[in-house]
Amino acid sequence: MDSPAQSWHLQDGVTYLNHGSFGPSPEPVLAARWEWIDRLESEPMDFLVRQLAGHLDAATDRLGKFVGCSGDNLIFVPNATAGMNIAATNIPLSEGDEVLLTDHEYGAVVRIWGQACQQAGAKTVLARLPLPLTNRGDVVEAVFERVTPRTKVIVISHVTSQTAVCLPVQEVCERAREQGITTVVDGPHAVAMSCERIDTIPCDFYAASCHKWLSAPLGTGFLYVRSRHKQGLKPTMWSWGKSLTGAAPSWKDEFHWPGTFDPTGYLSVPAAIDFLESFGVQKFRDVTHGLAQQARAKLQTYGDGSTLSADSPDWYGSMVSVPFPDETEQATFPGDMHPLQAWLWEKHRIEVPIIRWKEQTLLRVSCHLYTEPEHLDQLFTALDEWVNIDQ
Ligand SMILES: Cc1ncc(COP(=O)(O)O)c(C=O)c1O
Repeated sequence: MDSPAQSWHLQDGVTYLNHGSFGPSPEPVLAARWEWIDRLESEPMDFLVRQLAGHLDAATDRLGKFVGCSGDNLIFVPNATAGMNIAATNIPLSEGDEVLLTDHEYGAVVRIWGQACQQAGAKTVLARLPLPLTNRGDVVEAVFERVTPRTKVIVISHVTSQTAVCLPVQEVCERAREQGITTVVDGPHAVAMSCERIDTIPCDFYAASCHKWLSAPLGTGFLYVRSRHKQGLKPTMWSWGKSLTGAAPSWKDEFHWPGTFDPTGYLSVPAAIDFLESFGVQKFRDVTHGLAQQARAKLQTYGDGSTLSADSPDWYGSMVSVPFPDETEQATFPGDMHPLQAWLWEKHRIEVPIIRWKEQTLLRVSCHLYTEPEHLDQLFTALDEWVNIDQ
């Protein structure tokens, strides 16, 4: 593949630096999806009743090979949020139990566990990670400092949202398993971006989205479930609970027929894997990390040079968050958009999230195969203009 950038049909005039929130699909993935839609729409009865279960099994097998686990341990879900809800519904909590999360977790994930704890009379506990992140052992220690005999679950991002850092989930899950603590990894950004495979992370659940860095169709995600939790795993929405084909029962039946739905996004996930593999997955990581590194170096110059982590692919991949000098005490996505984010969009048609996190303002840049150094320059030129505006 010579120029993968040509494979995306992004809107003219827009500088899209937010693949990390919503990753558009390249042309071959859209084409594969249209093919699946054609097959479905030309004979829905045959497709949904006789064929679908087999196609979904083939697609989870392919996805399992890509992320490093057996397809028998994977179910498709619409997004990481849905996967996280299934995990939270199925891990029994009692009064007084504690669910430990880091202070870098995604807002919706914190809320899911807050709700689960509230129902059970349990509570969430936050581990504050040292900043900047430079040593994996220190991060693991910061998590385990907050473990008590009541800790039942640890929830940790593989790659965080606001801060865009890679966390040592492997070490955290290993130590948690030794202590009999259930682990749930929140991994939507790690799919394709991280080279750490699920089979090296001894977690109980791993929730992820394929519509971020893998660039599969929007509405595609998965939940990895450790074998011992598969049988009897409850869905968050009840349906028939059995295959329409009359095939032998499987634990996936509760999830892979949620009622009539459009499965073509899930079935196009293998096409997204093919696309990335044809470019080279490691090459994708190297190229996009190089761009993120350039972005980081320049963004640092706006403030006092502080960063959230060491400058290494061990700590950030295709996406980087950098503190930006700003006093605005404004909430951001979802809800009020930061004035700088709104201005970048309205004046320059640049899509880049600006996030208020722990009294800092972070500017997060995502780089994918369509990102060119000129796109970063457009951002920097706009930021130069912003800092010179008398505000
Ligand atoms: C770390 C993290 N977890 C979970 C999610 C939720 O992902 P989705 O909206 O695909 O469910 C996000 C979304 O950006 C995220 O960044």
